[in-house]
Amino acid sequence: MISKKKKTVKKKSRKFKAGEKIKEQAELLLQPLRGMKDILPEEQPYWDQVRRVSEKLARDYGFARIDLPLLEYTNLFSRGIGEGTDVIEKEMYSFLTRGGDKVSLRPEMTAGVCRAYIQHGMNILSKPVKLFSTGPVYRYERPQEGRYREHYQVNYDTFGEQDAILDAQIIQVALRVVQNLGIKAVQIQVNSIGCPFCRKEYRELLVNYLESKKNKLCQDCKKRMELNPLRILDCKEDKCSQVAAAAPQSIDHLCEDCRLHFRSLLEYLDELNLPYMINPHLVRGLDYYTKTVFEIWSGQEEGRKYSLGGGGRYDGLIKVLGGEDTPAVGFALGVERLIGEMKRVQAKAYKYPKPKVFLAQLGDFAKKKSLGLFSELEKNGILVAESFGRGSLKSQLKVADRLGVEITLILGQKEALDQTVIVKNMKTGVQEIVSADKLVDLIKKKLKTSSVIVYHNGEENGNNSKSLNQD
Ligand code: HAM
Repeated sequence: MISKKKKTVKKKSRKFKAGEKIKEQAELLLQPLRGMKDILPEEQPYWDQVRRVSEKLARDYGFARIDLPLLEYTNLFSRGIGEGTDVIEKEMYSFLTRGGDKVSLRPEMTAGVCRAYIQHGMNILSKPVKLFSTGPVYRYERPQEGRYREHYQVNYDTFGEQDAILDAQIIQVALRVVQNLGIKAVQIQVNSIGCPFCRKEYRELLVNYLESKKNKLCQDCKKRMELNPLRILDCKEDKCSQVAAAAPQSIDHLCEDCRLHFRSLLEYLDELNLPYMINPHLVRGLDYYTKTVFEIWSGQEEGRKYSLGGGGRYDGLIKVLGGEDTPAVGFALGVERLIGEMKRVQAKAYKYPKPKVFLAQLGDFAKKKSLGLFSELEKNGILVAESFGRGSLKSQLKVADRLGVEITLILGQKEALDQTVIVKNMKTGVQEIVSADKLVDLIKKKLKTSSVIVYHNGEENGNNSKSLNQD
């Protein structure tokens, strides 16, 4: 019985490899895969700013965090996102596991969030259920500026509410994240692509129109005619845009329910004073959307406008995946694109708190003692710098000078034996000898407790911690 099963698995993996070009990597290439990159320490202040702002807004608006595996069964995505989409047809990283399961690296987060929502019975929670997730997603696209094969998203989804007020709030959250990162000039593009009922009629109308212009479309759009004609509307090819310009628009063909929903959304957006534009060509690249779709575009005056993020309503997805009928709306922002735009508009990156104290040591015994002293100060919320590897006091003091600290603590052989520490005021040069057990209190007093930076898990929670709001 067992050996039979093994045979099937083997057969499957042979079949999977047959059509593939397998490139054996003979030499070790010291570089990431094409379209992927390292995020180096010098880039981290931007990434930290995005993490902090997006997480804070998630908390402020009542989103609970959820972390999901990067790998899921392939059919979760093909069923959820839609067979005819570029993401499923061309862009997934799919493979067979050793156990014979067909799996894919997530090309987006929403399908996984819905899988978890159903699996963990979140339908019994009070509505709306709001979930925030963040991390990398993978799409085998042609890499270019702002388009990577591995990119990061911050993703917000809400479940259980069909009122357009949720759509408006979701758009508001997306805008808040972008603006709190210091990106002020953006455009909100909105559209309604209706529900499966009114879209069916609209689709027929659109296909009829597109058939009559078929020879003016690009090769890709000719193929899209069958599977995904709505996508032709937002094709970037000039000739397709010209055809799209005169195409029938979905908002003119909405059923009563979708029309009222869209009207209500626009009223909420007006009430919030959000600067939106109705874009009848906005259809989005994932099949699960119903009614509202939106994108936030960078405000570059000239050149290409980037979509910093996008989302919409997806009232049918939970049911398609096997859950009970549950309306939902959400969005994701692309972190690399946010950072690209932050740099372009010279928005501030996160400023890490700087240590105000330096710990210098001299001699073997003092060196041993200094490890414990450092940890004692750290436990008490005092951010300390050191250069334990350096032997000479002169070179350590040079480092202290370069860091611009207010106080240098010097632990020599004698002090280590006496259980004392020399405390040097770096501005005045005045030195005093302090008993080691009184050191923490004295340093706190000297730095004035209010400005002591307590630094745990990347969070700054001293009394002087700065607001994340930049506006
Ligand atoms: P999406 O529009 O496919 O939506 O992706 C969201 C954002 O991710 C885009 O607006 C863009 O900023 C960024 N992005 C997409 N592809 C790339 C890429 N190749 N390189 C760099 N950045 C990229 C979704 O993924 C939906 N799941 C959003 C959503 C959540 N809808 C409802 N809930």
